[in-house]
Amino acid sequence: MSKQFYITTPIYYVNAEPHIGHAYTTIVADVLNRFHMISPMETFFLTGTDEHGDKIVAAAEETGQSPKEYVDRISGMFKSLWPKLNISYDQFIRTTDLHHQETVRLILSRVKEKGDIYFSEYEGLYCLGCERFYTDRELVDGKCPDHQTEPEVIKEANYFFRMSNYQDWLIEHINQHPDFIRPERYRNEVLSFLSEPLEDLCISRPKSRLKWGITLPFDDDFVTYVWFDALINYVSALGYPEGDQFRKFWPSAQHVIAKDILKPHGIYWPCMLKSAGIEPYQHLNVHGYWNLSQGKMSKSLGNVVSPLELVDVYGLDAFRYFLLRDMVFGLDSSFSEEALVARLNADLANDLGNLVSRSLTMAQKYFEGDLPEPGPSREADEELKRSALELIDIYAGLIEDLALHKALMAIWEVIGKVNRYIDYMAPWVLAKSDRERLATVICHIFETLRIIAALLWPFIPGSAEKIQEQLGLSKKGTDFTLEEIKRWGMGRPVRTITKAPALFPRIEKEKKEQQSKPSAPKKKKAPGLPLISFEDFQKIDLRIGRIREAEAIPGSKKLIKLKIDIGEERTVVAGLKGHYAEEDLIGTEILLVANLAPVKLMGVESHGMLLAASDEAGLHLLVPDASTAPGSRVK
Ligand code: MSP
Repeated sequence: MSKQFYITTPIYYVNAEPHIGHAYTTIVADVLNRFHMISPMETFFLTGTDEHGDKIVAAAEETGQSPKEYVDRISGMFKSLWPKLNISYDQFIRTTDLHHQETVRLILSRVKEKGDIYFSEYEGLYCLGCERFYTDRELVDGKCPDHQTEPEVIKEANYFFRMSNYQDWLIEHINQHPDFIRPERYRNEVLSFLSEPLEDLCISRPKSRLKWGITLPFDDDFVTYVWFDALINYVSALGYPEGDQFRKFWPSAQHVIAKDILKPHGIYWPCMLKSAGIEPYQHLNVHGYWNLSQGKMSKSLGNVVSPLELVDVYGLDAFRYFLLRDMVFGLDSSFSEEALVARLNADLANDLGNLVSRSLTMAQKYFEGDLPEPGPSREADEELKRSALELIDIYAGLIEDLALHKALMAIWEVIGKVNRYIDYMAPWVLAKSDRERLATVICHIFETLRIIAALLWPFIPGSAEKIQEQLGLSKKGTDFTLEEIKRWGMGRPVRTITKAPALFPRIEKEKKEQQSKPSAPKKKKAPGLPLISFEDFQKIDLRIGRIREAEAIPGSKKLIKLKIDIGEERTVVAGLKGHYAEEDLIGTEILLVANLAPVKLMGVESHGMLLAASDEAGLHLLVPDASTAPGSRVK
């Protein structure tokens, strides 16, 4: 594997202030970057702002500023936001930077010399919002699908890029590199687009209509189309063509974007690179959209969610954790503050925060912070050690596959195991009866915590470093490599441990509600169903099943049809849509009520029912805590 890693975010338009959508993409890039830092690789992380084009001129006019004053101000807002979200980028590029403008002109000249640019009169339907021409078949009811506005008919002479020359090459390249565009749904989208003849790309705007852009190197009366300008940032930032950084990092390039800009990145950009004689990027990583429960988030609807306001109320790492844990990379997610609070309280305050604080308290109380040598280990200790060590490779594999939410789930599985280990080992009893055993148990807890903290660092770097500090480790964050993390016993030199403030203070829902609503909050009623006899309970045939196939039922908002292996194949219809992605369900082990009378749901006969629990964070399938053969009876 290459020793370098180059990751980019889109360069954001400066016509709006940053919101959680921008924050999500940039945080994902930051996680991937930090993960590769500890892999360890030499990394380069690029972000920046896209500052030319009609949209920017219109936004500047609205504020009464010149385009230059305006772009300086908003670009500054993006630049100052990222450190507050603990984003450790290496370079912030602006398309108004001189060296970027020169690179755009150089690439345009190369593409022109190659014979891939021609001049022609064109009449087309132009959407100002998207800054591009639309074909009839791309419009929905004659309107732009993104802006719901009717495009203007514009007739003008312009320069065109012969994108069609590269259509066959691009199809071939995508077919030969299955993870060039990922996840698969976006690769398929691009291939489906490429199954129709590709139109050439209009790459200029006459200065009579737009002056705010980069002048074409071969015609002073035109500026460069904003996308042809913007995409080039990914190589201009590295000092293309002669820069050392370009030579070093470009071969490992990966872009992170959302689905809205798939076409420019999945089609225009590889064709532009090919024409300019530059190798294509390695991966285009495409994620879905954050929506609000009421629907799309947009500046015009005035419902954008500000990252800094959330960080102020809930803390940075609660915000980062929520975004990374609640979105399946590639699918859309719905944002709500309630869900964020639920995650913060359940996962961070309860599971992780309590684990750290109870462990520190025990080390303090029983050994005054001076951890002793462990004694001989027993099966339960070895089992915890195995889970912690196995986690490292599982985690790395999941991050490589962009399954960031699953990497967090895997860490939380081990957090759950340590919590259960503590409950089971009851160090407070050992403290009175067996000091050697107590030392062994405490050492296993701290070693596992050391691994957990190191693996959490890419996701929630600030809190992970705090934990590392509290564990008394001399190394923090990027000082650890994955190989070092694997060395069991490395964390033993923990010496002095001081009682620290809670890592993740709980958010009291009652308090929040009282602030907004004066009425008293409703308490959840304790569950109270009639008692049943043991004989009645035994009538339920509960089995372990493994999901083999999962397919959404057309026309249903909730239902997914599952094929489940319980020793035999069962078809079960479950209301899991919106909680789990179909592809994530495949392979999952579940608990099934296997002797429920069949029912027909949306025309599909369902033979059984999955067990799941729901709380404010959503619906959670109940799963066995270790792999269990399909069909095993649950007692
Ligand atoms: N300037 C272009 C990109 C040029 S890259 C060479 C642009 N800018 S943008 O400001 O509109 O940013 C779009 C990107 O912002 C999306 O691809 C995504 O990364 C992020 N998001 C904006 N809104 C989003 C959501 N609601 N949800 C998730 N991410 C979204 O397009």
